[in-house]
Amino acid sequence: MNRTKIAGVGKYVPDWTITNFDLEKVMETSDAWIQERSGIVERHYIRPGEETSSVMGAKASKIAIEKAGIEPKDIDFIIFATLSPDYYFPGNGVLLQRHLGITGTEIPALDVRNQCSGFIYGLEVADQFIKTGKYKNILLVGAEYHSGGLDFTTRGRGVSVLFGDGAGAVVLQPTTEEGKGVLTTHIHSDGTSAELLANTSPAMHGGYYDEDKEKYGFSDDSEYRYVVMTQKMLESDLLYPFMDGQEVFKTAVRKFPEVIIEALKSTGYSTNDLKLVIPHQANLRISQFVQKLLRLRDDQMFNNIQKYGNTTAASIPIALSEALDEGKLQDGDLLMLAAFGSGFTWGSALIRW
Ligand code: COA
Repeated sequence: MNRTKIAGVGKYVPDWTITNFDLEKVMETSDAWIQERSGIVERHYIRPGEETSSVMGAKASKIAIEKAGIEPKDIDFIIFATLSPDYYFPGNGVLLQRHLGITGTEIPALDVRNQCSGFIYGLEVADQFIKTGKYKNILLVGAEYHSGGLDFTTRGRGVSVLFGDGAGAVVLQPTTEEGKGVLTTHIHSDGTSAELLANTSPAMHGGYYDEDKEKYGFSDDSEYRYVVMTQKMLESDLLYPFMDGQEVFKTAVRKFPEVIIEALKSTGYSTNDLKLVIPHQANLRISQFVQKLLRLRDDQMFNNIQKYGNTTAASIPIALSEALDEGKLQDGDLLMLAAFGSGFTWGSALIRW
């Protein structure tokens, strides 16, 4: 049977760099607090109106496509992971198809809504299609435009300082090379704590989940049943993401190692066999915790959150692109990708490069 190989990787981040000192000017925070708690030094933001997550996704895709030695028209399936799409609907997949000028191919475009685990979820889906021979050039993209949806007042500082904009893309192709490619993938979810890292407004729930219609300003009048955004949402912090940082931290440092060990066990490898682990760049402290628990050496762990913040679905392909540029992966190396995030969802992929 075919295995899936990563034939081309691309990344794109906007050129507007925002340092912690820049954030100090708009909210009560400090470079010291941000670096100590998250490791982040700077991140990149889109200039409003100039780009979107699908536009950044297209820029990263073009690089990945070129590196794979193919042309946009050769792509036979698009998978787009993002939590910050251009529109409520349709999804970014079709917009990316349009940006790449390949609407005439009428290929399928799938949108993945698994936040920080979106890239791993997309990889598992793509892997199944490649293995069965259905598609031969799958474009998998992760891109986020966080800066357009964050609360930059002091009220939102616990979340806003952590996130950045950017995009990463890979082209996935079949390989018959002995032992190479995606060896195993594992994806999981547990919706018990769905609201602990979430953006619940605007939305169509009408106050259903917490039965608190007052909180969102939903009217009981059936005339307003389908309302997506209320005046109350606009006037409060309900339009911004919410995060229970400590609960997220505690769960992340359990689930990252668990799903990495699951991948190792299923293939008979140990942590010593790993050349590189690229975790979703959630927080440097989380990565350091995971590294310690798994007793990984510094050279086995890839971190670049210092420069980009948390770019959610984009973080793994951005990191992969950088690791390759820095010569950290050679032919035949064993690479572990792992992610955890909102949902909660988490996953891993073990790849022989
Ligand atoms: N600057 C300065 N102070 C801040 C701040 C900021 N940006 N954000 C929050 N604070 C304050 C809080 O208001 C609080 O003040 P108080 O003690 O006077 O009430 C204090 O810092 C501590 O807040 P707390 O939330 O307890 O901090 P923490 O040690 O848990 O760190 C996170 C916060 C978010 C960095 C941490 O919980 C974390 O890393 N969680 C995981 C986040 C993550 O990785 N999410 C993505 C998963 S995909």
